[in-house]
Amino acid sequence: MLRGRIDDRFSTVHLGGLNLDPREARTIRRIKILGCGTSYHAGLIGAGLIESMARIPADAEPASEFRYRNPVVDPDTLYIAVSQSGETYDVLAAVQELKRKGARVLGVVNVVGSAIAREADGGVYVHAGPEVCVVSTKCFTNTVTAFALLALHLGRIRDLSVTDGKRIIEGLRKLPAQIEEILKTEDQIKEIAAEYAGAQSMMFIGRVRGYPVALEASLKLKEISYIHAEAYPASELKHGPLALIEPALPTVAIVPDDDLLEKNRAALEEIKARSGRILAVAHQPQPKADHTIVVPKNEDELDPILMGIPLQLLAYHTALAMGRDIDKPRNLAKSVTVE
Ligand code: AGP
Repeated sequence: MLRGRIDDRFSTVHLGGLNLDPREARTIRRIKILGCGTSYHAGLIGAGLIESMARIPADAEPASEFRYRNPVVDPDTLYIAVSQSGETYDVLAAVQELKRKGARVLGVVNVVGSAIAREADGGVYVHAGPEVCVVSTKCFTNTVTAFALLALHLGRIRDLSVTDGKRIIEGLRKLPAQIEEILKTEDQIKEIAAEYAGAQSMMFIGRVRGYPVALEASLKLKEISYIHAEAYPASELKHGPLALIEPALPTVAIVPDDDLLEKNRAALEEIKARSGRILAVAHQPQPKADHTIVVPKNEDELDPILMGIPLQLLAYHTALAMGRDIDKPRNLAKSVTVE
C-alpha cells in the first residue's frame, strides 16, 4: 500500500493511476464518494480525511441510493467509486450513469482490472491482496489507508503544509507496527467476546471520525454473528436511542484521545447512569467502561484506521463463540453483482 508511493522530498505521495493533474486537482469544488456496505463506510472515513487534509467539501453516499435519486451531476464535483471487488452492480451502475452525464469518476478499488476499475477515469488501487471471505476486513483497513494517501496527495496540491504532510507520512509509516500491537490484544478481545456472545442486541457509538468506525463495527458484528447491532453518533444518543440502554444492551464506544474526548466521556457517563455495560476502544483505559481495548495512538486523522481492527476481531470471536460459519455467513454473497 505505502511501498513506492511516499515522496519524502515533497512530503506527499505519488498515485500513478490517478490521471488528475495538479491544475485539475485545484479546480475540484466538491468530492462525492459512492460505495456499498463496508466500502461505503470506508468512503465516509475517506470523505472526512479529504475534508480535513485537502479542505475540499466531501461526503459519501450509498451508491445503491444515489443512482435512484436522479442526482444533480455537477461538473466541478469529482466522483469517487469505492469497491473491493470492483464488480458490485449498484456501484458500477452509478459510475456508468455518472459517466453518461459527463462526470469525472475515479475508482478506489481492490481488484485490478475489475469492471469499476475499467470504467473509471483513473484511481487508486487498494492493493489489499485477494479477499476471499464474504466479510470485508483487511480491505476496509487498506481502503481507508488508500483514502489517507489520496487526501494527502490532494492536500499537498492545495493548502496542506509541508509540516502537516510530514506528520501524516510519519503516521502512515507507524501503522504496520501499530497494527501488530493491536493483534497482540487478541486474547483479551476473545475473552470480552465470550461475554458478549449471549447479547440479543448491541449498540455502537462514535463521534465524527469515530462514527463510521462504529457503523462498520456494527455491520461486521451483525453480518457474522447475527446479533442485532445499531450504530449511532454518540451525540445522537439523547435524541432517542438512550431509551434502549439497560444492562442487557451492551454499548461499544469509540473513544479516541482527540478534541472530542470529553464529549465522548460524557456519553459514557450517560450510559453508565442507566446501568449500561460499556466496551471502549480507546487510547487509554476509560474509567466508566467495563472493558477498554487500548489501541496505540497515531495522528488524529489516521486513528480510525487502527480503531476498526479490534472491532473486526470482536465480531470474529463473538461469531466463533456462537458457532457461526464465519467464512460463509448466511444469506450473503462475496460480490453483489445483481440488483
Ligand atoms: C462487507 O463485509 C460486506 N460483505 C459488504 O457490505 C460489501 O462491502 C459490499 O457488498 C460492497 O462490496 P464491494 O466492496 O466489493 O463493492
